[in-house]
Amino acid sequence: MKLSLFFVLTVLAGAGFSDVILEENFDSAEISKSAVINGRNDFSVLSGSLDYSWIKETGSRLQHKGNKVDAVWDVDIEPYRENSKTIYVSFLLKNLNEDVKNSFAGLGFYNNDTELFGIGNDFESEYFKYYSPGSSNIIGKAPTLVDGEVHLIVARIEFVEGSKDKFTIWLDPLVRRDLSDQNEWKTARGEFEFDFNQLRLRAGNEGNKWEFDELKVASDWDSLFKMNNSPGGKVSRAIKNADLPGISEKLDRGVNRFYAKYADLEEIPFSFAVSKEFNNVKRLKKSPDLQPVFSKANGRKYVYFDTPSHDDFYGTGEVQGALRRNGCRIILYNKDNYNYNDPDNLYQSHPWVMGVRPDGTAYGIIFDTTWKSEIDLRAGILFSAPEDAADFPVYTLEAESPSRLMEMLGGISGKMPMPPRWALGYQQCRYSYYPDSRVREIARGFRQRQIPCDVIWLDIHYMDEYRIFTFDPERFPNPKGLNDYLHAKGFKSVWMIDPAPKYEEGYSVYDSGSEIDAWVKNKDGEDYVGKVWPGKTVFPDYTIPRVRKWWAGLYQDFLDEGIDGVWNDMNEPAVFEEPEKTMPSDNLHRGGGKLKQGKHIQYHNVYGYLMIKATREGMLQYAPDKRPFVLSRANFLGGQKYGATWTGDNGSTWAHLEQSIPMSLNLSLSGQPFNGPDIGGFVGDASPQLFAHWMSVGAYYPFSRAHTMVGSKDHEPWSFGEETLKASRSALNKRYRLMPYLYTLFWNSHKNGNAVMKPVFFADPADKSLRDEDQAFMLGDNLLVVPKWAEDVNLPEGIFRNLQIGQNERWDKYQCKLLQKGGSIIPVGEKVQSTEELGLLNPLTLSIVLDENGMASGRLYEDSGNGYEFKEDKFIVSNFKAQRTEGGIKVTCEKQNGEFAYDKRFVKIAWITKDGISFGYGDICKSVEVMKTDNFEYIK
Ligand code: NOJ
Repeated sequence: MKLSLFFVLTVLAGAGFSDVILEENFDSAEISKSAVINGRNDFSVLSGSLDYSWIKETGSRLQHKGNKVDAVWDVDIEPYRENSKTIYVSFLLKNLNEDVKNSFAGLGFYNNDTELFGIGNDFESEYFKYYSPGSSNIIGKAPTLVDGEVHLIVARIEFVEGSKDKFTIWLDPLVRRDLSDQNEWKTARGEFEFDFNQLRLRAGNEGNKWEFDELKVASDWDSLFKMNNSPGGKVSRAIKNADLPGISEKLDRGVNRFYAKYADLEEIPFSFAVSKEFNNVKRLKKSPDLQPVFSKANGRKYVYFDTPSHDDFYGTGEVQGALRRNGCRIILYNKDNYNYNDPDNLYQSHPWVMGVRPDGTAYGIIFDTTWKSEIDLRAGILFSAPEDAADFPVYTLEAESPSRLMEMLGGISGKMPMPPRWALGYQQCRYSYYPDSRVREIARGFRQRQIPCDVIWLDIHYMDEYRIFTFDPERFPNPKGLNDYLHAKGFKSVWMIDPAPKYEEGYSVYDSGSEIDAWVKNKDGEDYVGKVWPGKTVFPDYTIPRVRKWWAGLYQDFLDEGIDGVWNDMNEPAVFEEPEKTMPSDNLHRGGGKLKQGKHIQYHNVYGYLMIKATREGMLQYAPDKRPFVLSRANFLGGQKYGATWTGDNGSTWAHLEQSIPMSLNLSLSGQPFNGPDIGGFVGDASPQLFAHWMSVGAYYPFSRAHTMVGSKDHEPWSFGEETLKASRSALNKRYRLMPYLYTLFWNSHKNGNAVMKPVFFADPADKSLRDEDQAFMLGDNLLVVPKWAEDVNLPEGIFRNLQIGQNERWDKYQCKLLQKGGSIIPVGEKVQSTEELGLLNPLTLSIVLDENGMASGRLYEDSGNGYEFKEDKFIVSNFKAQRTEGGIKVTCEKQNGEFAYDKRFVKIAWITKDGISFGYGDICKSVEVMKTDNFEYIK
């Protein structure tokens, strides 16, 4: 092929250029410029046209309507031929056809309009294949390419001078995080030779529906995956220059609220995200720096903030990908997303963006709507919802630091209630432990092997044929007896309750719900019947106050069986065999009280939120003097007031272990402090090494629970051999010994809304080099956790010392490194098998690292671990101080608050310096002096 040849990249579906983001009459020079800037490559567009007649707008994506190919870019490939000799093209392909077998989409390679070769899904099977006239080979099995599943496809073309060009294709049904590692791609690949001069993204037959998204073109693999923005990410002039707010209000220091000019204030719905009442609302006189513009176009309502490109974005809820959100689009529509196959949305929605400026000051934006919506961070902050969504206010928060911003968010959206201490312990789950003898065996397994654990979980197989609030008479004939057994061994139990009862007359939950007309209706006003585990099911309409009351009441008999906590799963709500894996968006919720009647598209995102609110109420009614523990899969901004959360069905893969950290961090930065993933991964079998690494990190998630799917190999810490067992035990011992610190962090979070798990950049928000760090993380402000596998970690400057709790055995290549910040005192406890062993004034070691001035301070919160007496002053907060003396340090308890204050308490002191650890012992109510000896390497 000659150097002067062009190939035509036929973009059938706008690939990554949504109708909004792209200027209507787009300027090809702009696109190529943007491609160069974003992709570090030399992509250049000579001319282009985009004919909208063949595409259909669906919110922000483009779908093609037929097989007409009218959109053409002429791309100059000369620079690629000359410089890199390769071109990489990647795109996401999403099937929207129910009948995958009769639909087609793919990438076609052409020579002068004749198709030479292609890659696409097979018409007849559910495989991906490459095809050329006369031959067709399968390159990868893609059984998930149905119903909105997404595939990432990458093509590499190597330009071979004087010979035929070469082509390699990768296909990945899972959107993995570590895209840059080619070896991580598990699917088959093929390599073929042929001549071509045109490349087309093709979507086949008339009537097919496909979406193309995130088209990227780059000269090498790495820059392809470093590219956040698709080329062309650019907000249209209409959106940029839209209307200033109609109303701008100052609510509080640093807190403003805005309404669009067109907003109908009478029709603003109840806010789920904002629970604070503002009593001193004033009109803003001056335009603030952070100010939205509002517009309506293309059937959508837009709110846009033209933020400087050097600001970094975080939060946005439960999301896949890197910690820093710049360049991402997030769909807010809670989704049962098995194995995280769909990159767009997960189980929760948080219409919230955190921005951090170069100087470390921070801002936050709440888009206060529950409607299905989208956050687009490719060029500033663009939020959009369907035009028929009710008008909504937009809140902006300005703070001097990210930490302070979290506290402001907590003040506005609500804070996590203080959890029972046992919920901070390690927890063991699987889908499912049954019968009851197996549950006992698991419990014994922990105690016999001296692996600390607080909770055993009961998944759906305990139920009588998946009927919620029932017990299988054979597998679990005596749930009370089982719980008594667990309690006697120092365990608590958490049992699952799904939202949807079986549609079956004669079944008490169905009957009592039907009596109060509890079920969500379809668009014709009839009870909506979907399909979940028990087969046909109905769905409680939690927007109705009497339904929430009825739901809360169902827990009375259930909890009477000695159940300690409730696990609300499937509450997106997940519905099988529906195109969006949930109920139709035009289903009807009847509301009541402050909630108006509305369609499912309005209440979908708060279905789980309302469910767990009612569950929590039920638990409090049953045992008003106990702190409820509810775990929910779905949730919404503000839902931290009702339950903790885990991040759903991840996979037993390295990629998902790595992904768990930014995912938990962004969820933490979205106001949900009590969260964590399934340790070990849910889908598939963990290897012994993966499990050991995951436990070693998992010991530091706020919510620490191992879980695995039905049919997988055993995933208990002892199921993988001696090395994994020992590594797990060592990690969990460290978690339990850090319990005084962890419990204090949860109390802080409960009091002030701050996160428990924080990104490293919180330690020095003005240090730009920390903004992307998402392998290491912080627990509170004083402890840095660096996973063993983390590479090229960016750590804050200043004093950080190795905090070694317990001896790491030489063979143990799994434990995270713990680094304690200079100037801090971290309270460390003793080894226990369960938090049930802990009382009020437990034995204590104070781990001390001095700052540059020879000072350190720290705080410890203690109470009975459950109940509400702490609200009546029945707690102790101890404030410790340490300062350098001649050859040593002096440690005191400066101040105590709360009724349980002590006047004598003997504590150990572990003073960590760069040379080692020096120990001391004494009554902290007097003062304890420690001389520098540095004899030890770890806290015994
Ligand atoms: C889906 C949940 O995500 C998973 O954790 C659970 O084990 C299954 N449902 C079965 O209840």
